[in-house]
Amino acid sequence: MKKYVFTPGPVPVPSEVLIEMAKPIIHHRTAEFEEIFAEVREGLKYIYNTAQEVFILSASGTGAMEASVVNTLSRGDKALVINSGKFGERWGKICRAYGVEVEEIMVDWGKEVDPAVIEKALSDDSSIKAVLTQASETSTGVKHPIKEISEITSKRDDVIHIVDGITGVGVFEIAFDEWGVDVLVGGSQKAFMLPPGLSFAAMSEKAWKFYETSDLPKFYFDFKPALKNAEKNTTTFTPAVTLIVGLAAVLRRFKSEGRENMHKRHARLALATREAMKAIGLEPFVQDTPSTALTTVIAPPEIGAAKVVAGLRDEFGITVAGGQDQAKGKIFRISHIGDIDKTDTLSIIAAIESVLNQLGYEFNFGAATKKASEILGTEL
Ligand SMILES: Cc1ncc(COP(=O)(O)O)c(C=O)c1O
Repeated sequence: MKKYVFTPGPVPVPSEVLIEMAKPIIHHRTAEFEEIFAEVREGLKYIYNTAQEVFILSASGTGAMEASVVNTLSRGDKALVINSGKFGERWGKICRAYGVEVEEIMVDWGKEVDPAVIEKALSDDSSIKAVLTQASETSTGVKHPIKEISEITSKRDDVIHIVDGITGVGVFEIAFDEWGVDVLVGGSQKAFMLPPGLSFAAMSEKAWKFYETSDLPKFYFDFKPALKNAEKNTTTFTPAVTLIVGLAAVLRRFKSEGRENMHKRHARLALATREAMKAIGLEPFVQDTPSTALTTVIAPPEIGAAKVVAGLRDEFGITVAGGQDQAKGKIFRISHIGDIDKTDTLSIIAAIESVLNQLGYEFNFGAATKKASEILGTEL
């Protein structure tokens, strides 16, 4: 059976990128690689909307999350972690592993954080050094107000905003320099349409000031030598050459599509999916502020999400993600990132209808596909 991944990472990789990565490997200490690296550095700055360096790490997204903590904070510092799902929880685990004290703002799953709560926490406790958030909390599908939170941290010289943008960068606008984000993390197996293995991080000037006083241990992920080398279009250690060659191909595609059109592409697929599910009586898990990287849907309680996930897999070769922890068995998550277009999206919506019908769900069969094709069939 032909396989389709509709998970919010890993994602389908475009064929032109796979072809580039299948070519004979080149050595990284060559002019040929330096040229590719220079191109990739520029392309990443364009996607990040920044003049700062965007570091390329040979690690999955969690590696860049860890790197952003060790390059800015110190033992005994206090971090304010927004915990609205599995990845917010991970910020807390990383900080604690390095002896950074954690204060958590717990947010109900599926809800966005209220910036006023962050503002109050910072006013109440002047020892907080960093606010750690997710632009898009992939475990629930919620989008957090990164611009508003950065406005709050920008007013304070002694607080930085560290953003996990792993399912945000390239998906919707995060204006790194303009908004005053301090560290922004991205990952290859997300909007970047690559296999897992690379992650990215940019640092603001304010974050560099934090670097100067940071005493957390760092070696492989030390950004200072990485910066010195990147400015010479090279890397400190052996880079993931094949993935970087693939990244160059992806960034060429993004340059011709344009940053704003990338955001529109995700928004349109998300809107079509969301409205399609509503048309057959399925509620989105996130009501007010959904991320456009994925659509999280509450499965009919009498059926449960596990059967929908299994039906899609067994009948159609489609992999979607289920829920984790408290959302396990309740929700399924449909991705819009990676090499997924409107034809793919229409297909999965039709497949979901077919599976629900087989599972005995009573609904207006065909209404979801009709709704999605109306939305996807109009001009952008
Ligand atoms: C928002 C977010 N943060 C962090 C991660 C962890 O990234 P990785 O699994 O690449 O280490 C993911 C992966 O799904 C994610 O979606």
